[in-house]
Amino acid sequence: MSTELPIGIFDSGVGGLTVMKEVIKQLPAENVIYLGDTARVPYGVRSSETVLRYSLENGQFLMSKGIKLLVVACNTSSAVSLQALRDNFPVPVVGVVEPGARAAVQVTKSKKIAVIGTETTIQSGSYETAIKAIDKSVEVAGFACPLFVPLIEEGWLDGDVVTLTAKKYLESVKNNGMDALVLGCTHYPMIKHIIGGIVSAPLIDSAVETAKEIRRVLEQSETLCGRRGQGSREFYVTDAPHKFAGVGERFLEQAITNISRVSLEQFIP
Ligand code: DGL
Repeated sequence: MSTELPIGIFDSGVGGLTVMKEVIKQLPAENVIYLGDTARVPYGVRSSETVLRYSLENGQFLMSKGIKLLVVACNTSSAVSLQALRDNFPVPVVGVVEPGARAAVQVTKSKKIAVIGTETTIQSGSYETAIKAIDKSVEVAGFACPLFVPLIEEGWLDGDVVTLTAKKYLESVKNNGMDALVLGCTHYPMIKHIIGGIVSAPLIDSAVETAKEIRRVLEQSETLCGRRGQGSREFYVTDAPHKFAGVGERFLEQAITNISRVSLEQFIP
């Protein structure tokens, strides 16, 4: 397989750009194609069956672009569809749950880890499963924080509303004796500064850990792009490209150009 083939990344919308930002930072030479399923966001409030179907369509679309590796840059999708994606597609598939779980287990001393995420992610128990697969003795407590995603998409990254919301959600997290907190949603790294001001435990950023995992997998499969310089960036969305570019630039911390709208109807695997 050519090392020049792109990495395909998908998310329900703009959130996965926190993962793409880390990929660009850690692996700048890689060509990257990003798909945001903006017509069907948010995934975090949908049933696992629906998220699984959407994820397979997203994966199929990216496969049609000739990718060498598929990144599920959405915690909700990773939580409910990772195995199905691995079963369906002939390229390595990296999700965000396993790398975050691994980093949290490395950090905890009290063997108590808390995870915050969307309702579907927390209900799926996927972080608990991934953490316990590494160390059975670790206790895991999950907390859904559904208001964070809309606040962050609205650009309310500072100020009273987001701070009070975070305090309310994190009160019970703080009292649970944990010494590692997993940011189990693509959006939460955007308010790391607020969360870190309320909770003293180390925060595990799945985006950073996922980019490290992508490097490991590419090295293992000998498909890491060897050349120097900046790789290409292509963006696809299923609706409202302008809105995606506006909000997304805050997530990616760089301009978003080269963006097209696509329909996924013909990509049902
Ligand atoms: N990308 C989702 C996640 O990481 C958050 C947004 C959504 O609910 O679709 O869980």
